[in-house]
Amino acid sequence: MGQRKKILITWGLGYIGSHTATVFIEAGYDVIIVDNLSNSHESSLEAIKKITWKTPKFYELDLRNYWDLDTVFEKHAKDIALVIHFAAKKAVWESCQDPFLYYDHNIFWTMNLLKVMNKHWVNQIIFSSSATVYDAENLLPPFSETDKTKTTNPYWTTKLVIENLLRDMVMHKWFSAIALRYFNPIWAHSSHLLWENPKWVPTNLLPFLLKVAKWEIEKLSIFWNDYDTEDGTCIRDYIHVMDVADAHFSAAKYLFDRIEINETSEAYKADPTFEICNIWTWYWKSVLEMVDIVKTVTDKEIPYEIVERRAGDVAVSLANPIKAKQLLDRESKRTVVQWVEDARLYINK
Ligand code: UFG
Repeated sequence: MGQRKKILITWGLGYIGSHTATVFIEAGYDVIIVDNLSNSHESSLEAIKKITWKTPKFYELDLRNYWDLDTVFEKHAKDIALVIHFAAKKAVWESCQDPFLYYDHNIFWTMNLLKVMNKHWVNQIIFSSSATVYDAENLLPPFSETDKTKTTNPYWTTKLVIENLLRDMVMHKWFSAIALRYFNPIWAHSSHLLWENPKWVPTNLLPFLLKVAKWEIEKLSIFWNDYDTEDGTCIRDYIHVMDVADAHFSAAKYLFDRIEINETSEAYKADPTFEICNIWTWYWKSVLEMVDIVKTVTDKEIPYEIVERRAGDVAVSLANPIKAKQLLDRESKRTVVQWVEDARLYINK
């Protein structure tokens, strides 16, 4: 990919960010992490070090502080090959309560990042988007990248707005960008030094289920069992977080392969490109099936109750995998067997 060997990761101490950092470090890149620790722990830095034998450069800062970010780029920009942008808030209910919080964190902060990148000629970016942008109620799954999108809450709106900001940057500011629309990332690094470890009570299914299995939470509330699916609970495409991390590496390779370096002028340019790609696994599971998996592998009871639907949930959310295969030449590697092993290790640690 040329001379630049640094990858800057926003919220690189969070769940997907920290796992992705290990993949790039192990492939020989220097990782710079920018994180405000609002939903992550500094101990993840130590975990990354134990796994990779290298400590990433860490800046504790908010993307809201343009000048702090500018200082980081002032120092490293000439070596930064790529920015991977994870920093975002992601709870639908919270975004409905306080839309401005979401516009600030997700959109305004991203604009700061793009401005600073543009100023310092760092113009390759991978953005952490979401499968929730599809118009799932009116589409027939699996969803393709060209399918219609829809937003019914500020969180989803922010993902769509940022995808469009990136499209503009590619058209008008010589950026190259890939937006990865993840389906449902779960589990952890095989070392079990990194795990999904939110600072607040988890809202996603898997971390919640595992806390129930560990008796840290009394029971799971299943958000309704009368959807139009076989057992009445929602179906999702669950993907191992290390497969998500690997997908970023494939996306980076795709971007780097397009770069032309002119050694004499030190030009660092590629034909601008913008791509959106589903990151999927093809292991469809319903909520009740996930309960059964966790119950079997942990050998623990999982008490649950059926409660009302959660706003924003759709019956089925599944990805069409073809584009990721063609564009990024990738498929998910970790199987359900790996999932099971992961859950066992987590419960017993
Ligand atoms: N669920 C429950 N009880 C819970 C939590 C979840 O029944 O306590 C159900 C949900 O109703 C849903 C399924 O489990 O049917 C999965 O829910 P998650 O919250 O784990 O995941 P979502 O599919 O709702 O969406 C999540 C994130 C989004 C992200 C998306 C794709 O909330 O931010 O995955 O990555 F965009």
